[in-house]
Amino acid sequence: MSHSPQPVISATGLFTPAERISNEELVASFNEYVALHNRENADAIAAGEMPELTESSVEFIEKASGIGSRFVVDKAGILDPAHMAPRIAERGNDELSILAEIAVAAAKDALARAGRDARDVDAVLCAASNMQRAYPAMAVEIQDALGIDGFGFDMNVACSSATFGIQTAADYIRAGHAKSVLVVNPEICSGHLNWRDRDSHFIFGDVATATLVEDKEIAPAGHWDILGTKLKTVFSNNIRNNFGFLNRGHGGIDQSGPKSDKLFVQEGRKVFKEVVPMVANMIVEQMELLGLAGGDMRRLWLHQANTNMNRLIAQRVLGHEASADESPTVLDTYGNTSSAGSIIAFHLNHEDMVAGDTGLICSFGAGYSAGTVFVRRT
Ligand code: COA
Repeated sequence: MSHSPQPVISATGLFTPAERISNEELVASFNEYVALHNRENADAIAAGEMPELTESSVEFIEKASGIGSRFVVDKAGILDPAHMAPRIAERGNDELSILAEIAVAAAKDALARAGRDARDVDAVLCAASNMQRAYPAMAVEIQDALGIDGFGFDMNVACSSATFGIQTAADYIRAGHAKSVLVVNPEICSGHLNWRDRDSHFIFGDVATATLVEDKEIAPAGHWDILGTKLKTVFSNNIRNNFGFLNRGHGGIDQSGPKSDKLFVQEGRKVFKEVVPMVANMIVEQMELLGLAGGDMRRLWLHQANTNMNRLIAQRVLGHEASADESPTVLDTYGNTSSAGSIIAFHLNHEDMVAGDTGLICSFGAGYSAGTVFVRRT
């Protein structure tokens, strides 16, 4: 009888940078930048030619977002009020690039947990919000660093990249094009966050995650069956970054001000209002199709952008206010790590689940985009 492949999640991996910035440290440096800026531009501000910048506050950040701290690849540059960006030394073409390096670290963690040799992996999907360069693809560099014989390519669906990557990997396995696919999400969000923007300077952190999607036939014990996946995109300008290869043609790149469109910008309030119902409806519809009720869901590993958004989505899905155990938060320590957030939540909160337990990995963000991956522990 011919084998009909069934995609499952064999393991996940995580790389966390060594340096961490608390809200207190972040706000202290931001407020120093504000004082410096207002002093240096006192005349222009007095003449009404330039707005005076306003201080940030720890209380606002915690209440509005639930973010408590974030990990970063370079703390000193970000907290330097005269610089306000990470300092990352450029590497030669013969060295592993930093985005590939953190992806490889997360991938090795996932491979070790699955007991899988990299030589038995067929493909690498680098699914993240920002690639370090135009080409060659990050995925091909990561594939080479891991010693994988097969293929790799990059895909960007912003904060939803991980779930889009998992569905793509699952489809390759179903189609028989691969038996073992590594989906990696290296996110150096500190590189595209505008640390001078009071509205968003607290949002992002750096991290890398990896998910090994495989044919059930070769998966290790305790793997996760994928019950169903669903992807959705709806165009919106409410989260946008105009950095790109045509910037030179448009007259150059200016990332120096508190509101540069060549860095991350968003209408946070609109995103909140529009994305919560879009995601909640999508999950509920998918649950109906899969024959799942709120009471069947042991745990939700939601995208980590805002605790208040997650509270509303989880309530709609479960039918009651979610406990921290039912909808774990990593925002308090990691901040928003774009595509990696729901995978970190899964990675750090699944060991206690037993065979038969059902959960949902769900991401959402710019595009708009949203993805669901329903899983059941074996
Ligand atoms: N410190 C102190 N006050 C601040 C501040 C800061 N850092 N940033 C903004 N404020 C003030 C504003 O000036 C505003 O003051 P006003 O009411 O006097 O005008 C007030 O706080 C509310 O600002 P607003 O931007 O409406 O806050 P919010 O409650 O919408 O929270 C976000 C902001 C970004 C935390 C929230 O909108 C959010 O998380 N949205 C979803 C974003 C998301 O998921 N994005 C995906 C990214 S991948």
